[in-house]
Amino acid sequence: MSMENAWLIYRSLTRDPSVKEKKISRKTVGRILGYARPYKALITFFLVTLVVASLFSVAQPLLFRRIIDQGITPGNASLVTWTAIFIAMLAIADAALGVISRYFSTRIGEGLIFDLRNEVYNHVQAQSIAFFTRAQTGALISRLNNDVIGAQRAFTSTLGGVLGNLITLVIVLITMLVLSWQITLASLVLVPLFLLPARYMGRRLQAMTREQMTVNAAMSNQMTERFNVAGALLVKLFGRPKEESQVFSDRAKVVRDTGIRIAMANRWFFTALTLVAALATALTYGLGGNLVITGAISLGTLLALVGLLAQLYGPLTAISNVRVDVMTALVSFDRVFEVLDLQPLIVESEYGRELPDGPLSVSFNHVDFTYPKASEVSLASLESIARPESAGGVEPVLRNVSFDVDPGTLTALVGPSGAGKTTITALLARLYDPTNGSIRIGNADVKDISFHSLRGALGVVTQDSHLFHDTIGANLLYARPDATAKQVERACVDAQIWSMITALPDGLDTVVGDRGYRLSGGEKQRIALARLLLKSPRVVILDEATAHLDSESERAVHQALDNALSGRTSVVIAHRLSTIREADQILVVVDGEIVQQGTHTELLAQGGMYSDLYETQFTR
Ligand SMILES: Nc1ncnc2c1ncn2[C@@H]1O[C@H](COP(=O)(O)OP(=O)(O)OP(=O)(O)O)[C@@H](O)[C@H]1O
Ligand SMILES: [Mg+2]
Repeated sequence: MSMENAWLIYRSLTRDPSVKEKKISRKTVGRILGYARPYKALITFFLVTLVVASLFSVAQPLLFRRIIDQGITPGNASLVTWTAIFIAMLAIADAALGVISRYFSTRIGEGLIFDLRNEVYNHVQAQSIAFFTRAQTGALISRLNNDVIGAQRAFTSTLGGVLGNLITLVIVLITMLVLSWQITLASLVLVPLFLLPARYMGRRLQAMTREQMTVNAAMSNQMTERFNVAGALLVKLFGRPKEESQVFSDRAKVVRDTGIRIAMANRWFFTALTLVAALATALTYGLGGNLVITGAISLGTLLALVGLLAQLYGPLTAISNVRVDVMTALVSFDRVFEVLDLQPLIVESEYGRELPDGPLSVSFNHVDFTYPKASEVSLASLESIARPESAGGVEPVLRNVSFDVDPGTLTALVGPSGAGKTTITALLARLYDPTNGSIRIGNADVKDISFHSLRGALGVVTQDSHLFHDTIGANLLYARPDATAKQVERACVDAQIWSMITALPDGLDTVVGDRGYRLSGGEKQRIALARLLLKSPRVVILDEATAHLDSESERAVHQALDNALSGRTSVVIAHRLSTIREADQILVVVDGEIVQQGTHTELLAQGGMYSDLYETQFTR
């Protein structure tokens, strides 16, 4: 039995049989065929190579039979020579066929994986931000990777394996039956002898493999969690390295032990497989030899049968588990389709309105908002990796929020933590859509504005601004790839970060490190500000952008912000007295409602919530 075949059987028997219970609709199958369509020609060629390869494998023993029975007699030298040459040519053709067949199958498999991968990437990218707040990135990525690769397998090993084995099995069996039905039946008797223990072993291997995978995942999760800056910092500061090592070592131990058990079970499996094949060969020689003596069959027939027998067990075992094989492949496809079928919560309007030039107004009209439920944004099959809080999202976070921001004016949002300030800005940037009411920018409903126009008009600095693991320069240019060196410098100067950057040995080419950890909190925020200034948006949204600054740089940034905000419509979540003093209007947000509205002096005169906030938060 060939090693490749043995592996195929091994893999097939160790697959999770529970997939058989999964329901796969006819639509799924149709859809898979849709993906296969571009490869129709390749698949046809591939199948042809499979059939020809099966024929080759039967031809060889039959030719040997011919040499022995008719050839090796005096005066028949030329027949022997020619048959031998033919056999040699057949072997060469067989080798070439193997290579060609492999070429077709990888072209199909890799092509398919390429198509699916791109589609899934683009689709996940198009998901709303709500999706990403639920899904655990690492788990999501590994799931998508594995499923896409699983789907690819459907086309290479399963299509090739199942069909190839089926064809070989039929051809070999027919040939054997024609040669000697007695020996064929006798050798088939041994099949259950092998299949039953093999299945038992397969089930045990499955359980062990699953255990190993779980612990392996836990082990690598621990590494990804602990070996990034944030995690490492937490371990250092809350310092329990001994316990961490212990937990890791316990997991590694399980991986080691299951590894040994799997390797041994593996060995038993292959030993049994070879043993049964060897026993069958012995049986054939014993039974067949006697038949040769009685003259029932020729010596050549006996040898041909032994040769064919070697090709019988592999396909037979593989086919015995064909349903699990096919279903495993289909389920992978199904999981990928599930991701592709998840409709993004926020979709671009077909109108795709462009915002007019010039300063833009902003208005909220009776906006209610509830964060979407997990079921609306994440996947049933990804539920296990969704975070526990995903059950939430029933309480309205915003209620009847209405306000207008005139073009070029500054609106400050103030209020206690958790009041809904960040949520208001998220709605403005259309990261979410309101449950009721509408939001307008430049007199257009944000839902009607094209993504391109909306993203171009808005500039956002979030509560914790993110920097890619790249150079400072590259991070800045992300906002505006075509910016000149002069413009970059200008933006950095205005954000009061230029002197700091030029003081670095590598300047703009300094790599900021994972999540920008190489920079101080204030520096990071000023780089985020520089990025905003470089983009030069018409509507600016700042979420506590200045919270990290000491009073000196705060004054400097205040100056820069003043310049940057002038002439722009701005919505700022303010924590500094200077900002709220300058605001054209202040909105006091409490529990998702705007409870007070006016300028600093007006609100102070009114008393109430604003005065309280002023006393506690802004007096400094
Ligand atoms: N993705 C989310 N899913 C569900 N609930 C959320 C989500 N994000 C925020 N919330 C909830 O919405 C409410 C308002 O949050 P928001 O971030 O808008 O507050 P905030 O006013 O910006 O507070 P802070 O001043 O602390 O930043 C909070 O109760 C919060 O728990
Ligand atoms: Mg906030």
